[in-house]
Amino acid sequence: MTLSEPELRAAITRELPGVRADLERLVRIPGIAFDGFDHSHVERSAEAVAELLRGCGLDTRIVRSGGGLPAVIGSRPAPPGAPTVLLYAHHDVQPVGDLALWESDPFVAVERDGRLYGRGAADDKAGVMAHVAALRAYGDELPVGVVIFVEGEEEFGSASLEQLLAEHRDALAADVIVIADSGNWDIGVPALTTSLRGIVNMFVEVRTADHAIHSGMFGGAVPDSLTVLAKLLATLHDDAGDVAVDGLVSAGPTPVDYPEDRLRVEAGLLDGVSFVGTGRLTERIWHRPAVSVLGIDAPRTAEAPNALAPSAKAKLSVRLAPGDDPKSAYAAMKAHLEKHVPWGAHVEVTFEHDGAPCVIDATGPMFDAARDAFRTAWDGVDPVDIGVGGSIPFIATFQEMFPGAAILVTGVEDPHAQAHGPNESLHLGEFARVCLAEALLLRSVADAAGPLAS
Ligand code: BES
Repeated sequence: MTLSEPELRAAITRELPGVRADLERLVRIPGIAFDGFDHSHVERSAEAVAELLRGCGLDTRIVRSGGGLPAVIGSRPAPPGAPTVLLYAHHDVQPVGDLALWESDPFVAVERDGRLYGRGAADDKAGVMAHVAALRAYGDELPVGVVIFVEGEEEFGSASLEQLLAEHRDALAADVIVIADSGNWDIGVPALTTSLRGIVNMFVEVRTADHAIHSGMFGGAVPDSLTVLAKLLATLHDDAGDVAVDGLVSAGPTPVDYPEDRLRVEAGLLDGVSFVGTGRLTERIWHRPAVSVLGIDAPRTAEAPNALAPSAKAKLSVRLAPGDDPKSAYAAMKAHLEKHVPWGAHVEVTFEHDGAPCVIDATGPMFDAARDAFRTAWDGVDPVDIGVGGSIPFIATFQEMFPGAAILVTGVEDPHAQAHGPNESLHLGEFARVCLAEALLLRSVADAAGPLAS
């Protein structure tokens, strides 16, 4: 006999203070997998996660592939006849950007108005801790086998993930996968994520001259590279703001819509700034490609001399609709950029990283079990099936390796979490529900697998 619902509620309440203290400890470790950052912190972060898993009684090791960063695998065998559940999260975080925009140190977790602020407090150290909370709540009475896989380079494109999964294929085999790296529909309303966009990031560099030249002597006859880059980037969208790159795929209609005023507030859109693109908002952010300019290397305005810059470089990110393929999307972008560069300027497109989109058929007993667990944890509120505009490349890779496994995509993020931006935060009330939902979910999965077990 495993724990009852009231026992699990009590166990989560008992465990939450310790879980929060450990989350705060994880937030202190600036484990950023991007090139150019000190990767010793990612190593420390993997060790901290491994320690937490050992504390839950899991057989735990730190693994890596090739030159990749460390992931942590922990496991505990299934009781006889019970299913095995793979729990996924990642321990690396995004860079913090401009520190001046943070109201408190990104690597010191601070509570304000019921939210815990800090880089990774939500994405995805809280995902790691939701798994830990569920394991601690059960102690020795876990009704399922578990394998936990905590990745260390998700935010930088998971370069070694495929190899890592192939090397540990047998250890990671599971009947059900719980991915705690997505989010909920709103505060107080849970969600089950059923599609995610893919991603392909790239750089485009344009060159017009072999050195910087006097803007008065040459301007008017010689193009400057920044104007070339601006004109080139402007060809990526049509006047309505829809992506104008041939060869990128769109998916079909979405089942729910997002109120415009809600998205305006959540995005912090300024008065008078319109949305871009056409169609339902959920179609635009879940089911269609998006092309964004993430950064530009160019002279800084305060230091720019009166000279025509000979070269300029932009970082572009394309979100891919479910059904698209990262390799063909990159080829389509490269062809577009090479074709549309104005005035014969030299153009070079280089690949950074990619990840495939995914669609999950959320029907069947495991998904019903998950919905029941969410409904209970949110005191009777039905979960909404949602798409997500962000990406979790692990999912498509996993679907390919284990086509039979049910993939439950859950998570702690809410529309105000500001993941990837300054002042990222976790809603502590929702986090408690997510922890309870995961504990309940493991129980419902064991029950739903009952017929399989016999
Ligand atoms: N947690 C996010 C994915 C996500 C975003 C879920 C928004 C729900 C809502 C994940 O950690 C993430 O940010 N992934 C990266 C992946 C990329 C670097 C390959 C992303 O989407 O930018």
